[in-house]
Parts: sequence; structure tokens; C-alpha cells
Amino acid sequence: MLTVTSVLLALFAVSSAQQLNFTHHAVLDPNEKFQLNWNPATDGSDYFTFECVVATRGWLGLGFSSNGAMAAADMVIAWVDASGNPQISDRHGPAQGNGYPPADSKQDYELVSGRKNDTHTVITFRRKQDTCEPQDWKITSDTTRLIWAFNDQVPTSADDISKHTERGVKSVQLVNPQTKDGMATILADPSTVTFDFRLTNVTLPTDKRTLYWCEIMELPKWNKHHIIANRMLVQKGNERYVHHLVMYGCGEEDMSEFLGKPASCFDDTHVFTPMKKCRNYRAVWAVGGEDFVYPSNMGSPFFDDPKLRFVLIEMHYDNPDLMPGITDSSAFRFYMTEKLRPIETGRLTMGQLVSPVQLAIPPKQQRFTAYVYCPGKCTSRITEPINVFTGLLHTHLLGIAMRVRVIRNGVEIKSEMRDDHYDFNYQTPVYLSKPLVIMAGDDIIVECTYGSMDRDTVTYGGYGSDNEMCEALLEYYPKRNMTSEACMSIVDPEALLEVLGLKKDQVDIAGETWLGEQIVTVMNQNQQNVTITNWYKNDLKVTNEMVTKLQDFMQNSPQQANDGGSFLNLDGAIQNPRPYVDPPAVCTSSSGSGSITTSQPTPTTTNRSSGGVLREVVNELIDAFRKFIG
Ligand SMILES: *[C@@H]1O[C@H](CO)[C@@H](O)[C@H](O)[C@H]1NC(C)=O
Ligand SMILES: *[C@@H]1O[C@H](CO)[C@@H](O)[C@H](O)[C@H]1NC(C)=O
Ligand SMILES: *[C@@H]1O[C@H](CO)[C@@H](O)[C@H](O)[C@H]1NC(C)=O
Ligand SMILES: *[C@@H]1O[C@H](CO)[C@@H](O)[C@H](O)[C@H]1NC(C)=O
Ligand SMILES: *[C@@H]1O[C@H](CO)[C@@H](O)[C@H](O)[C@H]1NC(C)=O
Ligand SMILES: *[C@@H]1O[C@H](CO)[C@@H](O)[C@H](O)[C@H]1NC(C)=O
Repeated sequence: MLTVTSVLLALFAVSSAQQLNFTHHAVLDPNEKFQLNWNPATDGSDYFTFECVVATRGWLGLGFSSNGAMAAADMVIAWVDASGNPQISDRHGPAQGNGYPPADSKQDYELVSGRKNDTHTVITFRRKQDTCEPQDWKITSDTTRLIWAFNDQVPTSADDISKHTERGVKSVQLVNPQTKDGMATILADPSTVTFDFRLTNVTLPTDKRTLYWCEIMELPKWNKHHIIANRMLVQKGNERYVHHLVMYGCGEEDMSEFLGKPASCFDDTHVFTPMKKCRNYRAVWAVGGEDFVYPSNMGSPFFDDPKLRFVLIEMHYDNPDLMPGITDSSAFRFYMTEKLRPIETGRLTMGQLVSPVQLAIPPKQQRFTAYVYCPGKCTSRITEPINVFTGLLHTHLLGIAMRVRVIRNGVEIKSEMRDDHYDFNYQTPVYLSKPLVIMAGDDIIVECTYGSMDRDTVTYGGYGSDNEMCEALLEYYPKRNMTSEACMSIVDPEALLEVLGLKKDQVDIAGETWLGEQIVTVMNQNQQNVTITNWYKNDLKVTNEMVTKLQDFMQNSPQQANDGGSFLNLDGAIQNPRPYVDPPAVCTSSSGSGSITTSQPTPTTTNRSSGGVLREVVNELIDAFRKFIG
């Protein structure tokens, strides 16, 4: 059924079709058949304007979904009809499963223009960021899973929409993504120089899915530069195997003996030595990530100290079908300039020590949250405020939400460094429109929420695809001289195991290195000594009471925090008497039935496809834990 409004809008649209310029762009499918351009709502307008450019002469559909599925998604379908008039219809997915999407009771998508040629249909429409309708998606700064579909058949009316012939899902950040304008300027500027960190023809194994490949590279002796952008150059054809890349600086360590000797980063018993020495996280890219462009007045210093000669590249490959004969020489590119920009950036990492006895997530939980505490005692080391402008929120497969909370004088302030729709396969840095200010003395809490419904045993802290991490890698300005770029929180491993029913005399924690190498042995009920991970798998029977106690423990029993230089005992959890609450949306219903507030559907089970791991910023953790246990 076509409403009168949409017909009128269509007429308006045709007459006022004009050249709109879009700041944001995403290609939604691998074959570049569905392209999306948009302008986010700005201070002057609460409308998002979208332009869909789709290789079809029939209808196109765009939807906003909590988990990538069609069920309960907000959808809009548009086409150019047989008479050449553009049409639009605001719809929503069925309550459950897939199926014909009914029209919304109120039409909130407004057609701006539409046209087609022999190959493509281009439809421009706008909608409010918050339409105040429960059938529509409220656009937030979270990761948004856009679903797309099309069919070459032209509908005769909104009641005659044939089933899609192609569909898919793509995660994007709609509110605060980076504009690509900056990259065009950087590419066009003759003073821009590039440096590629290229892996040397890595052969993927055929006996295991996951490979972490580590390679030491020497930096050229250049003058100080500012990094102003970076880009991952995935070798053509290897898009499905290249999963993550992390770059670490090696400080003043001499790594020349490892040049030309790349190796697996770790296996069951060994760790590639540079992993322990190269500790300064410099850059990260992960699947789904796009170019990273610094604001035009900022740069991250590089080649600023001739004693810093080496970097470690850690690449995660994922070869789920064990395809033979795959070799890879992908590269990571820094775009730099010697024309130093006025503001330099620095890094701050907050996270949980990576270990099976620091983080334990019980199976079959809708939501289980880990808490990282960086108390005022730690942040008081910064004497002036820092402005966090970007950051990577990192968990593994179970992560469903993450947030960085800042508490000042007992009151939580608004922080957009959060994502309630976390997507492991879209680990692109969060880019804030307004910086998150952290002042000396602020308490910081990083919360990582996991959904473990499809696990049968405890998931524990570790670097593997199936293990978990909780880390916020933040970048701020202006750069400060901080003793450390890390603030880590640590729980007492024996106390954690006690919650899981192990007495102190059943547990033996040995070994001084802390990289999954440390040996935690447990005497099980059959008086056998087993590793902690085997005990989790084979012996532990998780009870409901244990889950409650464990959640309480993760929240309330941090023991220490480490600011890199020293250890601070915590006096329990950071108290948060007044949590930040977003002001309620002011929604005036056009039907005159008073104001309503929309609420976002809560995410259900997310489809977790390819596995993988980042193993970053662990060296601070290793040191931290060494000191903690030592
Ligand atoms: C879009 O950009 C073009 C070229 O830069 C400019 O001429 C035009 O006025 C812009 N249109 C709008 C609506 O801003
Ligand atoms: C048809 O429209 C698409 C999208 O605007 C454009 O890329 C393409 O060049 C057009 N084709 C022709 C033949 O004009
Ligand atoms: C990469 O390695 C493969 C397998 O070892 C080899 O066949 C190929 O020639 C190498 N390519 C380059 C460019 O070195
Ligand atoms: C901070 O670092 C800068 C640059 O390395 C240096 O010039 C300055 O002296 C340092 N300041 C302090 C207080 O250490
Ligand atoms: C298990 O380890 C404990 C302490 O390390 C040791 O005393 C005991 O003999 C071991 N038991 C077995 C069966 O190996
Ligand atoms: C989830 O992923 C699997 C494996 O890629 C795929 O077969 C399945 O269709 C996906 N399910 C949904 C709901 O997208």
C-alpha cells in the first residue's frame, strides 16, 4: 500500500532532485553491487540522508538489524516504477525468522530522489536519527549491522515486492565514522610519504586453521615524521584469510638477530622471543577495518628516536577450510609527513591481564561482564587532561558489548567510547565526534560483556580464537610523558579459582613467564594433576550459584592495578554511585497520542563466523603479572 505521503514525497523528490554531496561511503557487498553514501545527522539537523547505488533495475532494500538477521529489523524498500517514478516503503522484518516484511504503521523514510539507468538504480532518502517509532531503528554511535537486498523485478506496488535474489549484512559505524575526505587530501599532497611493512611470502599451514605469524622489521633511518593515516593492503585473493594485523614497537631492544627469521608467534610450548620484548602497540588493523585517517591537525610521532629501530608485525591468518597452497605477502602502510602537525597523539591501554586464571566466563550465559579498573590513583599520574579521540575496543568471539566508563568525583560522565552491538569481525577503531576527556584522578572502568549461550564449558582468558580478552586501546592528544601507556587490572588467581570450587592446596601456580606458558596445575577429584585449561574442560561442573558468585567476583574483587611503573592495591571496586543515563528521547507522536520513547531491541544471539585473535599489548600484562606474583 502506497501512502499519500510517499506519493507526494516522490513528486517532491523528482522536482527537487539535486546534486547532494555525501561525506560517508561504504560498499556493502563483496561484488560492489550495493553501495551506500550518507550524511550523518549534524547539529543543524536530526536527519540522516542515505543514497543507495545498486546494480539492479528492480527494487533495493536496506535494513538496520541488531544481529544481522532480518527478524525485527527496521527496513526500507525503494524502487523506480514502470513510469519512472521513485517509490519508497518503510517496513520491518517479521517478529521471528525471515519472511515478507510488513509495512510500518507509520512511514518515516522520506524519498529525496530516485533514478535508474540500464544497470543501476539510485535512490536517495532521509530519516530521523530517532524516529520515535518502535518499528524503526534508533541510529546510535554503536556498530550498526546493515542488511541489504535487491531483486531485478520491478514491483507494481508496495504490496507486490518479490523475494530478494541477493542479500547480505555489513557492519558499519553510521554516526561517527571517519570521513574519507581526509584520505583524498593526504593522497594528493606531494609531501606525503609512505612506508610499507610487507610480510614475506607466508605459507599458510594446512593442518590448522589459525596461524599467528610474527616478523621483525627494521625501520629506515628517517627524520622524524608524523603518521597521518594507515591502510591495510591485503594481497589480492587473500581477503578471506587475512584476519588481523598488529604492529608493536620494540623500544630500544636490538632485534637484529631476528631479521629475516619470521616465525609462528607462539605454539603450545613456545613463544617467539620478540613477542616479549616488543611491547609498544603502534597500530592495528582487523578484518572489516578501513583506512584510518588522523584529524588534519594531528599526527602520531614516528622515527622520532633513532634508538627505536625495530617493529614487530603480528599477523593473524584464518584458514577455516585448510585450503592448501595459500601464500601471502600483504602489507600494512603508514602515510606520513615531515611537515609536522601541531598536535601529537599518544596511546593509553586499559585491559584485563590475559590469562586463564584472570578471566573465566561460564557457559550458557546471555550476558556475563568482566570489569577492568583503572582507578584515580592511576590516572592521577597524568597532570593535565587528555582527550581520547579514537580507540579500539577489543574482545574475541564472545564479545557482545564494551564500554569505557569515566567517573569523576563519583559521577559518571557521558562516554561514547562504547559499543552495545559489538562485532568481532568489524574491529575498526571507534572515532569520536567529540573527544572523551580524562582528567587526573578520574576513575575508569572498562566493561566487556560476553554472550556464551553456544559454549558448553568455561571460556577463559587467552590469545586463541576461542579464548577471551578485554581491552580498550585508546589514542589521545596532546601526547603526554607518561611512565606507561598501560593501566591494567588484576584479580587474585587463587581467589578466582576458589569461587570455582578449588581449594588453595589443590592449585599450583608455577613458572614466571606469563604468555599462556605459565603452568597452573590443579589436582582434580580423581587426585590427578591436570592443567587448569583441561580442568575447565573436563572437570569443572558450573552451577548457577557459581555463576552468580563469579559475576560478583569479576565485578567486586579486583586486587591490584598496574600503571606500568608500579602496582597499586585497590580498595575494592570503583564505586559508581551515579551512573550516566542518557537523557530520554523527546518524542512527540504525530498521531497526538502523547510522547513515547523508543528503545533499541536487545541483541539476540549473534552469528559468529570466522574465528580469530588479536594478541596485543600483552607485554605490560606479562610484566605486571610477573611483579604481581613475584
Ligand atoms: C556538491 O559539490 C559540488 C562540487 O564540489 C558543488 O559544486 C555543489 O554545490 C555541492 N552541492 C551541495 C548541495 O552542496
Ligand atoms: C548508471 O548509473 C550508475 C550509478 O550512478 C553509474 O555508475 C553508471 O555509470 C551509469 N551507467 C551509464 C551507462 O550511464
Ligand atoms: C612464495 O612461496 C611459494 C611457496 O613456498 C613459492 O612457490 C613462491 O615462488 C614464493 N613467491 C615469491 C614471490 O617468493
Ligand atoms: C617530555 O617529553 C619531551 C619529548 O620527549 C621532552 O622534551 C620533555 O623534556 C619531557 N618532559 C618531561 C617532564 O619529562
Ligand atoms: C600432583 O602435584 C602435587 C604438587 O605439585 C604433588 O605433590 C603430587 O605428588 C602430584 N600428584 C600426582 C599424582 O602426580
Ligand atoms: C551463520 O554463519 C554460518 C557460517 O558462516 C552460515 O552457514 C549461516 O547461514 C549463518 N547464519 C545466519 C543467520 O546468517
